Amino acid sequence: MKEKLQQLQNKIAEAMMGGGADKIEKQHEKGKLTARERIHFLLDNGSFEEIGMLVTHRSSDFGMEKQRIPGDGVVTGYGAIDGRLVYVFAQDFTVFGGSLSETHAEKICKVMDLAMENGAPLIGLNDSGGARIQEGVSSLGGYADIFYRNVMASGVIPQISAIMGPCAGGAVYSPAMTDFTIMVENTSYMFVTGPNVVKTVTNEEVTAEELGGASAHSTKSGVTHLTAGNDIDCLAKIRRLLSYMPQNCEDRPAKLPFELKDEIRMQLRDIVPENPNHPYDMRDVVDGIVDKDSFLEIHENYADNLIVGFARLGGRSIGIVGNQPISLAGVLDVDSSKKGARFVRFCDCFNIPLLVLVDVPGFLPGADQEWNGIIVNGAKLLYAFSEATVPRVTLITRKAYGGAYDVMNSKHIGADVNYAWPSAEIAVMGAKGASEIIFRREIKAADNPQAVLAEKEQEYQEMFAHPYRAAGRGFIDEVIDPKDTRRKLIKAFAMLENKAAKLPKKKHGNIPL
Ligand code: HXC
Repeated sequence: MKEKLQQLQNKIAEAMMGGGADKIEKQHEKGKLTARERIHFLLDNGSFEEIGMLVTHRSSDFGMEKQRIPGDGVVTGYGAIDGRLVYVFAQDFTVFGGSLSETHAEKICKVMDLAMENGAPLIGLNDSGGARIQEGVSSLGGYADIFYRNVMASGVIPQISAIMGPCAGGAVYSPAMTDFTIMVENTSYMFVTGPNVVKTVTNEEVTAEELGGASAHSTKSGVTHLTAGNDIDCLAKIRRLLSYMPQNCEDRPAKLPFELKDEIRMQLRDIVPENPNHPYDMRDVVDGIVDKDSFLEIHENYADNLIVGFARLGGRSIGIVGNQPISLAGVLDVDSSKKGARFVRFCDCFNIPLLVLVDVPGFLPGADQEWNGIIVNGAKLLYAFSEATVPRVTLITRKAYGGAYDVMNSKHIGADVNYAWPSAEIAVMGAKGASEIIFRREIKAADNPQAVLAEKEQEYQEMFAHPYRAAGRGFIDEVIDPKDTRRKLIKAFAMLENKAAKLPKKKHGNIPL
């Protein structure tokens, strides 16, 4: 027995060393942690249980039979985050560059299957040179096995991908199909084709960082939802992100203890400027409403004319979608519509109630927008709100114009409670544009067209630039004093706690993708 125990200890030591001390040192020199260190910082202390530590690859091509390293470049298993069960895989770059072999893929698939069967989140820490080149099609098959499981798990359990090194070629499609991607600045990149191929095909010269680093994907493409300064920051952000989510689609997010006290927030009265054309930061409204320091913004630097993120309100986890007047006056455009739709659908998958903050002058005009499909992309947001069955509450702080009024979680598309501040303006369009169209003949025929336009604008303003017509029709449930907003919203979400809405029986809808 003693000998056998010694043999076991040797095997474990071999697995723990991964590709060896020099490769671990190289990983540290790049500012990266190893796979095991990452798991250590991600999970609650001592909670990790490894699965498949001694698995080796089966390849014997290109002399691979002489290089079998236990674990085969990926550490897999389960553990806890804040006491909750999670499944995890972490690719080990020190072993064949973290490349994906048939057995490496099998290990990942095993934890994915366990996560699905046991209804717990899956976290993937990606750091890989892609398909194991020596294995050819077996490796490609392994990727496809993972992709398939990503799709099957979508909407069943939360899936989070951290990109903590290279992620290139078809490998990018697994993170792309998970719910959230977080990239580490300067040490990670994602692209379908790298700088060399780009240079050959298009003659563009770009570095890996410029092409697919955290900065590019958090501002230009929107591929990543969050970025992190380093590995430790990335792992801490995953823990925080997870705190807003339930374990699976049949579970609810954890509710923190809360007692309703003085929820008056006077500062909310002073946020919307007197001049309706002056901007303000919708994040100030969010901060005035939600529990202290609880807002976690998603896609902060992408399509920033719409803010989305998680927060807590009276201890409850909620998703927030809000127009952002300090960027493009808060209009909806192609990118913000896609961003909003994806977020709404995530919240709806996982029973996270939605709070929608509206100050929207309409959709962004322009040939560029039309040719990039503002019709079909705007429709995504409309569709996502319409089919969401979670509790949905809307607050109109100022403008709610045109089709964008309908889209932004209006009563007509199924919102449960709709509030407006007295500063709300709900109309087909702004007073000037409206007057120029409907009084065109009168203005043209007048001796002083400017004066007539101003007069008609004033008339239109008085008729529509307020929330009372909409409230009179019941499209707004209540016009509220901004200082009472937090209290009203806490009570509304508590009232909606057991909402049970069902969609008509169907295989699945056909969202305009
Ligand atoms: C096998 C690989 C590998 C791979 C790296 N290694 N990538 N082994 N298959 N795909 C090995 C290297 O040979 C090296 O082994 C070790 O990992 C570390 O790699 P280095 O090159 O020394 O590291 P670095 O300089 O940091 O460069 C990292 C890298 C580079 C940029 C990722 O290794 C690279 O370009 N690799 C190939 C990437 C690639 O073309 N992958 C296939 C993409 S196609 P030693 O023993 O020397 O330490 C693909 C299709 C997926 O992935 C399709 C899914 C549908």
